[in-house]
Amino acid sequence: MPAPAELADRLARHGQEHVLRFWDELSDDQRQRLAGQLDAIDLDEIAALYAGDVDQPDWEAAARRAEPPRAMRLADRQSGQGGGLGVTREEAEKRGKAALDAGKVGVLLVAGGQGSRLGFEKPKGMYPIGPVSAATLLQIHLEKAVALAERHGVGVPVYLMTSPVTHDDTVEFLAEHDRFGLAEDDLFIFRQGTMPAVDKETGKLLLADKGELFLSPDGHGGTVAALATYKSGTSGKSGTSGKSEMAGRPGGENAVEHMKRRGIECLYYLQVDNPLIPIGDKELIGYHLATDSELTSVAVAKETPDEKLGNFVMLDGKLCVIEYSDFPAEVAAQTDEGGGLRFWAGSIAVHVFGVAFLERMLALKDALPFHIAKKKVPHLGADGEPVDPSEPNALKFERFIFDLLPQAENPIVVEYAEEEIFAPLKNAPGAPKDTAEYVQRFLVNQHRGWLQAAGVELPADTPVEISPLWALDAEGVLERAARGPIAVDGPTYLR
Ligand code: UTP
Repeated sequence: MPAPAELADRLARHGQEHVLRFWDELSDDQRQRLAGQLDAIDLDEIAALYAGDVDQPDWEAAARRAEPPRAMRLADRQSGQGGGLGVTREEAEKRGKAALDAGKVGVLLVAGGQGSRLGFEKPKGMYPIGPVSAATLLQIHLEKAVALAERHGVGVPVYLMTSPVTHDDTVEFLAEHDRFGLAEDDLFIFRQGTMPAVDKETGKLLLADKGELFLSPDGHGGTVAALATYKSGTSGKSGTSGKSEMAGRPGGENAVEHMKRRGIECLYYLQVDNPLIPIGDKELIGYHLATDSELTSVAVAKETPDEKLGNFVMLDGKLCVIEYSDFPAEVAAQTDEGGGLRFWAGSIAVHVFGVAFLERMLALKDALPFHIAKKKVPHLGADGEPVDPSEPNALKFERFIFDLLPQAENPIVVEYAEEEIFAPLKNAPGAPKDTAEYVQRFLVNQHRGWLQAAGVELPADTPVEISPLWALDAEGVLERAARGPIAVDGPTYLR
């Protein structure tokens, strides 16, 4: 049976008819699936992206005229000064607490990435990172939301983004563990979209199999579109039967509608690979609210000019991130009057978003540009045999969440110490940084620090881990310590 004429014509007009090369060999289901994948692709957009018909700013030139961002520095936070924002830590905490108490805060957790560097066979969120407990990344994040809800006496909904790569495993895992204690209406799982990859030399779409395009998640910037397009009650992987993860929830609701129904006004954004994050931290939320910021970002101070973190800068009055690879060495090395780095603010992908801001972004078409990356993409060759390239052979298209920054009104940056907020799990063992062992060291140091600050005596070099359900943060540990002695004599999981 030939391919439907309309589909074949559309593909031929874009020089992409080769994807139907194996049509005759496919079953009806496979044909339907391939046609569905092709229907979902904007071939004009792919052609324009391949042709370079997108604005690719000259970042190096931009970096040379950039200014440092408006920021709350760590020293001002610690000493109780208003600093660059004119808001003290105490004022911020009060504002943030009031918003949390009023149930206006949600959590936006993105977990759609492929985790290719880590090489773990399941979604990264299922990685057992707990240094003593082997609790998974997802368990740690969700238990923080549970503890936060308990502290403020009101649900803190978690909007969890998956992708076709991570969705089914994540949904099944969370169902098996009863959402780690989150109330049913406090977990909204939504799946991000995908983008095809094209051959770097020809712009032709690549096939993963005879009846399947090569598709990958469209980047963490895909969050914005997915908040509005993915409806609760939708089944699992595209084209396969999946179970509804939203049973009992008003059907057909998207994440933004859920936020409106729940009265959520701002979202604490984080990525699944960083278990150190103080989710729903009232201080950060407070700065965001007190300054009428639409988008608040956390920075850590770069230790060296060439540290591999994106740089927060002001450019023509707008806040932006310029990636380290685009930041000229001589600009990165500039110092300020105090002798510190002028461009000190490294991005760690922790933000607070106003919900109204995200809605405004959704109304704009193409609020986020695509970034193009050359990657090695294994695929099916013209002869139907697998091709496993040794060099980058393909272009992939991804959106980045930080591209929202320039669109925001009153954006601010708040500096945190790395050890209180940033230890992402990225790499397999053996890498110098961001391995499981590295992350566990940060977790143990954080938890030991909270206990020691509360006067608890700890044996040296002993791993101690605190479940968020036992104490959410240093303040929670102090409350525990006030209730009675805490004994730690060997490796301990306080739960
Ligand atoms: P990374 O860009 O570090 O990707 O994502 P990754 O999947 O964790 O790892 P590599 O690069 O393949 O080794 C940072 C965060 O953004 C999420 C990831 O799940 C991670 O929490 N992300 C990334 C998405 O949710 N969707 C995407 O399309 C990409």
